[in-house]
Amino acid sequence: MIGIISAMQEEVQALLHELKDIQTTEKGKRTYFTGTLFNKKVVIVFSRWGKVASAATTTQLINDYNLDEIIFTGVAGGIKPELNIGDVVIGKHLYQHDLDARPFYKKFEIPILKMKYLETKNASKLLNASSKFITDYNKYIEKTEALEFNITAPKTVHGDIVSGDQFISSLEKIGRLNKQLPTAICVEMEGASVAQVCYEYDTPFSIIRIISDKANDNATIDFSRFANTIASNYALGILKNYFN
Ligand code: ADE
Repeated sequence: MIGIISAMQEEVQALLHELKDIQTTEKGKRTYFTGTLFNKKVVIVFSRWGKVASAATTTQLINDYNLDEIIFTGVAGGIKPELNIGDVVIGKHLYQHDLDARPFYKKFEIPILKMKYLETKNASKLLNASSKFITDYNKYIEKTEALEFNITAPKTVHGDIVSGDQFISSLEKIGRLNKQLPTAICVEMEGASVAQVCYEYDTPFSIIRIISDKANDNATIDFSRFANTIASNYALGILKNYFN
């Protein structure tokens, strides 16, 4: 069985529409949807925003279901000029940009684990699945919601993702992130905490992030609509390729 997590319901809405033989379980104020997606047994849950909410949900998911892997999917703010709204980032390394336990540990080091970042598994397979989806999407882009968000030629990128309990919407904060964690290409609020729990429970983890904003003064777009249309349809298309 495969666990699929997002932060918001909108980010998995298209998956929930496609899910067959649905059963739901409520725990810890979360709803776990089990069923079949493209002939694979899956459990889908949205955690709500932030590292605490997503870590708690991941722990519950791992303990309650016999999972082969967890895939996180959702939106992120791009912090490199070459990343545009509508691009897909498949995560490589995940950092917690707000973790700083100095002088006891180095900046960004996860206490006890002696690591500054967690690495994803199955990234190359997910990267292929995304590249294939995006190539197809570009062919019929004028028939999608892409133009509404000025998305013209989306691409797939493999890179480092940073997470923290902050919505980033200023050039100054982007500058600081780029200086402190120069390999980071996008920012969000859950990936690194889910990656840490998956590491601790020996569960393979991978992550899809769709760029919804550029983490600057214009970062507050119609998030819910972007997630519901672009992000959740991308996730559906990418996972369809990934499962087949
Ligand atoms: N998720 C999507 N955009 C984000 C941003 N700018 N900061 C943090 N999380 C995000």
